[in-house]
Amino acid sequence: MNDVSAQVWVLDDEKNITFVIRAMLEKAGYSPVVFNDSAQAIRELGKATPEVIITDLYMPGPGGMDVLEYCKTHCPQVPVVLITAYGTIEAAVSALKQGAFDFITKPFEQTELLSVVQKAVQTYRQRQKEPVFIFPENGAQDRASSSQAPAGLGSPTPSTIVGNSPQMQEIFRMISKIASTPSTVLILGESGTGKELAAFEIHRLSPRASKPFVKINCAAIPATLIESELFGHEKGSFTGAIASKPGRFELAHEGTIFLDEVAEMPLEMQVKLLRVLQEQEFQRVGGIATIKVDVRIITATNRDIEAEVKAGRFREDLYYRLNVVPIRLPPLRDRREDIDALLKFFLQGFNTKLGKQITAVMPDVLASLRLFSWPGNIRHLENVIERMVVMCEGSVLSLDDLPEEIPHILASPAELQADESVDKEPVSFKDLVKKQTQFVERELIEKALEESAGNITRTAEKLGISRKGLQIKIKELGLKRPID
Ligand SMILES: Nc1ncnc2c1ncn2[C@@H]1O[C@H](COP(=O)(O)OP(=O)(O)OP(=O)(O)O)[C@@H](O)[C@H]1O
Ligand SMILES: [Mg+2]
Repeated sequence: MNDVSAQVWVLDDEKNITFVIRAMLEKAGYSPVVFNDSAQAIRELGKATPEVIITDLYMPGPGGMDVLEYCKTHCPQVPVVLITAYGTIEAAVSALKQGAFDFITKPFEQTELLSVVQKAVQTYRQRQKEPVFIFPENGAQDRASSSQAPAGLGSPTPSTIVGNSPQMQEIFRMISKIASTPSTVLILGESGTGKELAAFEIHRLSPRASKPFVKINCAAIPATLIESELFGHEKGSFTGAIASKPGRFELAHEGTIFLDEVAEMPLEMQVKLLRVLQEQEFQRVGGIATIKVDVRIITATNRDIEAEVKAGRFREDLYYRLNVVPIRLPPLRDRREDIDALLKFFLQGFNTKLGKQITAVMPDVLASLRLFSWPGNIRHLENVIERMVVMCEGSVLSLDDLPEEIPHILASPAELQADESVDKEPVSFKDLVKKQTQFVERELIEKALEESAGNITRTAEKLGISRKGLQIKIKELGLKRPID
């Protein structure tokens, strides 16, 4: 049978239920992985992908709807089946509208469960074979909306910042709020998270947009030259100063200066920068004239600058001057929901640049990209996509195009850490029937007890069994003994 050994995840805090479902699935030849803790299952989803997820609707911690929501962004090809209790049909129907594959109502029959799972596995496998279209099938690609920095100073920086994640939406809100102010901004974030892009965006949205955006990389300039780079020099002020030259601060007059990798600035230079910030004026190296400029300062670093301050490598007073408005760009692995939009954005760019017509991506490529940890963040993703576009011969990116450094997500289901607390003993059919029976009994008794407000006599009448019989059952099933 085709779907034998399909990996099916079962999420329910009730061990009785996961026990029964797992046994049913194993009997039918599937490979169930059971989680009694939904939060753990969600963490595992970041590392591996099942073919189907069966989840209870109500659980402590994340519930079935949270699991569904997570799957929609992280593994939308995986069908999610919800287990709902009798009486929560409305919730189930709304779950279907939210994209759940199907639901089963407790107590359910083995055949019902297996038929839903079989359909779900087929759906998953079908989805795996079909490309996911990134652009409309007619090939019409919406125009890239990137604009370029004003020609002249600084490297041209595309100004489109892509990101739908809540974290990026928050960053956009910050950027548009601070753009209109002259405040100093410190941008923090790992390498490749878009610090330079954010700095330019602040400038682009500011009243200074028509004036220069001047960038200086403090790590790339020898310590001896930083002062003259920033503030300029007069002819003959040092060996090699054959002509007078304005510094970047002068060039940025009325515009924005972007001091990149500011944590790399030598300490003696930090003192000078601090003085300029305090006094709002400076002299060129070897010059006597006092120069006043109107410049907005944005700085960035990928270092833990607070640690640099503590270690005495970065002046505390300068840190407070620069850190008026901090912006922290989150690493890509913390906002994976942006990956799809970035993929689309970069694909569009590289299609144009490399003269290609790639319109779709295979689901396993998509899943691999979504699950990778991206240590080099967005720059890393951008490079990988460029490489794939170069490699790809048709119009669909497939696993063959994916660089080896990106692991195939389905490659290692064996590494999966399922709940260790889950009982692993093999089940006989007799056990299975017994468990299922107990499960149904438990539901019925609990319901009857509830309806009779815990009164044993009335509950027994309702169920059509003796009072004594009910008491035995309650003990056997380990039900909470109501006050008699
Ligand atoms: N949100 C985004 N949307 C689109 N492109 C982005 C985004 N963030 C970054 N990029 C692109 O990723 C690359 C790296 O961005 P950028 O140079 O701004 O990062 P950085 O944080 O300054 O990195 P580093 O610390 O290495 O200097 C650039 O090509 C940039 O255009
Ligand atoms: Mg940078």
